[in-house]
Amino acid sequence: MTQVYTALPSLVKAPGGATLPELPFDYTQGCPPVFSAHQLELHYKKHHNAYVTKLNAILGDKEEGETIEAIAAKAKAAGDGPLFNQAAQHFNHAFYFGGMKPNAPDTMPADLEAALTKNFESVDAFKTAFMDKAVGNFGSGWTWLVYDTADAKLKIVNTGNAGMPEGTQRPVLTMDVWEHAYYVDFENRRPDYAAEYFKIVDWEVVAANLARASQ
Ligand SMILES: [Fe+2]
Repeated sequence: MTQVYTALPSLVKAPGGATLPELPFDYTQGCPPVFSAHQLELHYKKHHNAYVTKLNAILGDKEEGETIEAIAAKAKAAGDGPLFNQAAQHFNHAFYFGGMKPNAPDTMPADLEAALTKNFESVDAFKTAFMDKAVGNFGSGWTWLVYDTADAKLKIVNTGNAGMPEGTQRPVLTMDVWEHAYYVDFENRRPDYAAEYFKIVDWEVVAANLARASQ
């Protein structure tokens, strides 16, 4: 059962349809030093927007006011693959882009640093483990830092295709490892993308996600 978790309280299917969320930065300038404007234009305005458009085409006027996470969870429980894929990819991309910041500071809130150190021995060890997990995620999918409410631990997990964190695992940070996320700038070199990714992670957002997840 997919976790019904309101990581983004504003991500609902509003009357009139789901909408592409605004990004927290000007995507027309890319997201330096990792993503070019062309890469982000394709990923956000073409790929993410296509998931939103297809989700609305499937749902019509159904599920108005419902969260995207709940729509994905119900679709998965019902075995509705096409609906799950569009809803989950809308959620996953909103979560991914929402945690992104151009030239993000390397420093992070003390609570987050303490949690990463407690669970992974050091922040650097966490980053290395996360990058290794992303590189090892076969095919298309997502790499996540999750907070597991079952044992109150942070974990790094992979999902395939449109997969979202499940069960007791709540999302804290994600990295899109579909080739469409990085191919313009990094071609087939996912390890290079993974090595650069933390330069655009907004640690303030990650800390806020963790605070919500661990409530
Ligand atoms: Fe993507």
